[in-house]
Amino acid sequence: MRLQRVDVRALWLLLFCGWAMAKSVPDLDEGCELNSDTMHDFCCDLHDESPHFSDCQMEWHEKIHYTTEQEEQTYMFCTAECTFNGTDRFLGSNRQSLDLAAVREHLESELANDADEELMYRTYIQCDKHALSLLPHKGVKSLAKRMARFGCHPYAGLVMECVANEMILNCPAKRFHQTPQCVETRNQLRQCQQLVPQVQILK
Ligand SMILES: *[C@@H]1O[C@H](CO)[C@@H](O)[C@H](O)[C@H]1NC(C)=O
Repeated sequence: MRLQRVDVRALWLLLFCGWAMAKSVPDLDEGCELNSDTMHDFCCDLHDESPHFSDCQMEWHEKIHYTTEQEEQTYMFCTAECTFNGTDRFLGSNRQSLDLAAVREHLESELANDADEELMYRTYIQCDKHALSLLPHKGVKSLAKRMARFGCHPYAGLVMECVANEMILNCPAKRFHQTPQCVETRNQLRQCQQLVPQVQILK
């Protein structure tokens, strides 16, 4: 008797989860997986905006006068590659990998603390894997097509966005910028993690 009740409960739970996922994935997929809104949210002292990022924003603002969300996304992702291309020199020569020595060097010069450096370094390694896993996705492929017209590739933006997300979620508490915008973004990201764990936005 008891077993049966458990079975029924498990069945309901399964059905509910199936429904919740089927329902949430189409709209959340895009929002949680390909959300370029966080790229310019610098919410953690460990991951601060570089002067190069603002230079690239200006440069690409001139090149892409966006009026739609898609165009804005293209603009953001080109800005990211421009940043990685520039003083940071994070990209490998194929533009789809990180130059980890350059990342390490950059972090050493930016951060004074070994633990902070290690956290950021691990985040970049993790985000490289994450970015590579997203490249074959349909939405990313169509983004890549749009970007190709401007000579940009989405890999850098995927890494940058992942790092921004990670550093919003995992920033040491004392180093997190408690602005309304950052707190709101963190709440949204936490929701994404709960609702679409299979997207594995961060792992
Ligand atoms: C980044 O550098 C590569 C290689 O030099 C170049 O092909 C690409 O257009 C650059 N991307 C941006 C956004 O400037």
